[in-house]
Amino acid sequence: MELIHSITELRQFLQTQRAAGKRIALVPTMGNLHAGHIRLVEEARTHGEVVVCTIFVNPMQFGANEDLDAYPRTLQDDMTKLLKAGCDCVFAPSVAEVYPQGLQHQTVVSVPGISARHCGVSRPGHFDGVATVVSKLFNMVEPDTALFGLKDYQQFMVITKMVTDLCMAVQLVGVETQREASGLALSSRNGYLSADEKLRAATLYRVLQQSAEHLRSGSAIAEVEAQAKAKLQGVGFKSDYFTVCHAQTLEPALNTDIDLVILAAAWMGKTRLIDNLRVQLAD
Ligand code: PAF
Repeated sequence: MELIHSITELRQFLQTQRAAGKRIALVPTMGNLHAGHIRLVEEARTHGEVVVCTIFVNPMQFGANEDLDAYPRTLQDDMTKLLKAGCDCVFAPSVAEVYPQGLQHQTVVSVPGISARHCGVSRPGHFDGVATVVSKLFNMVEPDTALFGLKDYQQFMVITKMVTDLCMAVQLVGVETQREASGLALSSRNGYLSADEKLRAATLYRVLQQSAEHLRSGSAIAEVEAQAKAKLQGVGFKSDYFTVCHAQTLEPALNTDIDLVILAAAWMGKTRLIDNLRVQLAD
């Protein structure tokens, strides 16, 4: 497995692979890898002969009061996991390599509408940071396919719109959320939870499942959302949002919509967790 830090070296490596007729599959990450990321790498193997995993804690997607400095940097551990998972190339650039002119002078990719809702409200500028870095990574790697976890459902929809709007040639694949036995979605931020918080945090997925059931049995959306928020509060969550949306537009769902996603973000202590569940209603 190659470990590459510079864009020039990355391009040289990938040019040789492409010349040999190999397809490139990309898994963009911020490192601190868990089984959810490894699942992405495994899935990537089915889409390309060369799997590239990028590890870059992107400062542009963190707000001023967020955990950029505290975000765990675990390159050696990540490399061990990636080698075992069959990754071919780890690209771990420095901030200066990705943003040579600094963040102030960086061209920004901004995906309108969909970026402004949900996490975009609580984390202003977050999706501009994501869209900008992902488009830079696409230009550096020029992958045939790129894989993202669907735990970050809104992120996946933002990237999907960006790829469509900017006529990018990459094929996107969303991979199902990996969960602990308790139902808690795997996330690098779970490491911030105490044992007790982790136990209570598993309620988030149970509430999503119960809400899906209530929607299927015809409950009104507003009622489902209010009940869910009350349940989350009951186990100590501070709800950021819990919203039933149209699965493609992420606009608040109408009672006539049938392709839905429930998006949730909530604080457990100092840790902000997100999760979601797709719900298809019978027409
Ligand atoms: O989902 C993530 O880990 C990040 O948002 C991504 C897509 C790697 C961009 O920094």
